[in-house]
Formats: sequence, structure tokens, C-alpha cells
Amino acid sequence: MPNNIAFPLRSRTKASDSRVDPARILEALPQAIVAIDGALAIRYVNAKAEEFFYASASTLLNSELSELIPSDSPVFSLIRQVLRTAAPVAEHGLMLQGRRIGERDVLIQATPLGDPPDLVIVAFQERSIADRLDQQWNRRGAVQSARAMAAMLAHEVRNPLSGIRGAAQLLEQSANDEDRELTRLICDETDRIKALVDRMEVFSDDMPLEREAVNIHTVLDQARRVAVASYARHVAFVERYDPSLPSVLGNREQLVRLFTNLIKNAAEAITRGSGAIVLSTAYQSGLRLSLPNGNGRAHLPLVVSVEDNGEGIPEAIRPHIFDAFVSGKQSGTGLGLALVAKIVGEHGGLIELENLPRRTIFRVFLPMAERSNE
Ligand SMILES: Nc1ncnc2c1ncn2[C@@H]1O[C@H](COP(=O)(O)OP(=O)(O)OP(=O)(O)O)[C@@H](O)[C@H]1O
Ligand SMILES: [Mg+2]
Repeated sequence: MPNNIAFPLRSRTKASDSRVDPARILEALPQAIVAIDGALAIRYVNAKAEEFFYASASTLLNSELSELIPSDSPVFSLIRQVLRTAAPVAEHGLMLQGRRIGERDVLIQATPLGDPPDLVIVAFQERSIADRLDQQWNRRGAVQSARAMAAMLAHEVRNPLSGIRGAAQLLEQSANDEDRELTRLICDETDRIKALVDRMEVFSDDMPLEREAVNIHTVLDQARRVAVASYARHVAFVERYDPSLPSVLGNREQLVRLFTNLIKNAAEAITRGSGAIVLSTAYQSGLRLSLPNGNGRAHLPLVVSVEDNGEGIPEAIRPHIFDAFVSGKQSGTGLGLALVAKIVGEHGGLIELENLPRRTIFRVFLPMAERSNE
């Protein structure tokens, strides 16, 4: 939701003429607002909703939502969830498809009304395809530049580095204790640079991935177990898995790498208090996304999220966190998310970040393996 909507609700100087009719506000909102009842019938639409669904209010008010949006769309599960839990939900990056509305990329917010809720207020806001592609292209650009950098480092740095280390080792043989401390320092520091160059090396590899049907829950389990044994000892894990989730079409090793990096970042963001990482998986049949490489559309129904309640992403680096060498940590190399973006891209998937107060959610959308391959 944009947070720049300002309503000119001034103080009430004259009680009689300064009241603002709430209906006028609803009509002026840039989001399409629709009220849905428990039977999923439409009970209210604002002006923007008429535009959004290409129909007049009177037509819409005599319709069921399923006449506008196919009933397997995730919008319905959102609405049912709101009716059941009485808690608002927001979902972004949803592709709505329907005879009447065509194909629309939207942000959706659903809010309960009444206690228990008898209505759900759904706000649809279209997100331009251009925005989305731009964002993905930028990430691809970041991956490309990391790749070029990795190739350059391997050539220009690794060889002289082993020369320096070898020379320091030779000197060490005839050095006194004091000098030996210095030759040790040279070796340790060159080792550190070599480790960084090695980490960069994965970027220079542009071989196509070998992919097969992979159970994402075993991938998450492996990433979680490694985390619990080391950098996430201080963190509680919550697993919200859809046990019937179909397999991902993916490369197991790379997927473990991807989620290890997301979990490590989440654990590092939890520096105090009772931190928790929520790992969840879900199936969203209606999610179809445009691919940035001009390859048309991808069906990415498997959604895997890593959520934490840590510090959040520093605002200054938020637009660039998928770029290599962007880090908000003192000793971070800033390569984790660049690698994540590379792996997601190689899977034809998509990654989105939702940044809420004390809730940071990375959502990865992945393709499904054909059932016959499972
Ligand atoms: N879950 C998160 N919560 C808060 N900040 C995050 C989170 N994930 C990433 N970040 C921010 O994004 C930056 C970039 O992350 P990235 O994984 O690319 O690098 P890094 O963690 O700093 O270093 P590396 O992963 O190479 O050790 C982090 O330094 C951190 O500031
Ligand atoms: Mg990291």
C-alpha cells in the first residue's frame, strides 16, 4: 500500500459544515474497494472498483466474486482466512486472471468488519508490470556484474595471491620470531582474501542448473539443522508447512544454499529478545508471473517464505540488498543475497521482500515439478 495518501481532514472549526462524508473518501480512494459477505457476494464497491472490474456498481452488486475472479484464485483463500481468523491479511504480487478483468498484477489487502466478521473489505491495487519487470531486471544486472567481478578476481587476484603466500612461507623459514609474526600475518590475510575469492567463484559459473523434483521440506529441514547447530542457536524456529505441497523443479544443493543464506540473515537480524524464524510453504495456484527475460509467463505456484522478527533491513540499503557487496553488517561480505538472487533466477523463480515493522519476510516463488517426475 502506498503510504502517501493524505486526506485533507482538517480540524472541525464549524461543526455544521466541516464534517467529511465518509462515502466521499471511499469514492476518492485510489484502490478498488469491495466488501464481500460470508457467502462471497459483493455488498459494496467504490468508484475505483467499477473501473477495476469494468462494470457498473449495479452490475457488481448483483454478482458473486467468483463471477469476476476464477474461484481457484488465492483471493478466495485470503477472504476465507480473514473470515475465519478475523485478522487482516495483505498479499502482494498476485496475478489475477479473469474473463472480465484480463490479467492484472495486484496488491491485495483484506480486512475483517464486524465481530465476528460478517464482511471482508478487500482493497485491490494494481501494480504496473513495468515496475515489476524493472525490479527483476535490476537484480539480473546485479547478478551479471557480480559474475564479471568474480571472473576478474579469479584471474587477477588468485594467482598473485598464491605467489605472495609462497614467498611469505619461504621467508618464514629463515625469519626470527619477531619477523615470523609478520610472515604469519601475511599468510593469514592472503588466506582471508582467497576465501573471499573462492566465495565469489560461484558467481562466475553460468552452467545451466541440473534440475529434478525436489521436496522443499527436506531442503528447509537441512538448512534449519545447520543453522540451529551454529549461527541460529539463539533463535526459535516455527514451521508452517503445507504437507501436501508438490515437489519443486529445482537443484537440491542450490536450494539448500539459497535457504541457508536467507535463514542465516534472519538469524543475524535477531540480535536481542525472543527471536523467531518462521519457515512456511504454501501452494498458490493462481500465481502466474511475467518473466523478465521475455520468456512469457511462468507458473510459480510454490511459495516458500522465511520470516523473522529481527531488526529489519536498514532503510539506506533496502533498494540494493540483492547487489553484491552491499551489507549492513560490520563484517558482512554482502554476497549472501546476491547469491540468493542468482539461484532464484536460475530456477526461473522470483523473490520478493516484505518489510514490516519487526517482520521481515523473504518470499521465494518456485516452479513445480511435473507430477509424473515425482
Ligand atoms: N532478514 C534480514 N533482516 C534484516 N536485515 C537483513 C536481512 N536479510 C538481509 N539483511 C540486510 O541485507 C544485507 C545484505 O545481506 P547479504 O546476505 O547479501 O550480506 P551479508 O549478510 O551482510 O554478508 P554475507 O551473507 O555475505 O555474509 C545484510 O548485511 C543486512 O543488512
Ligand atoms: Mg548474509
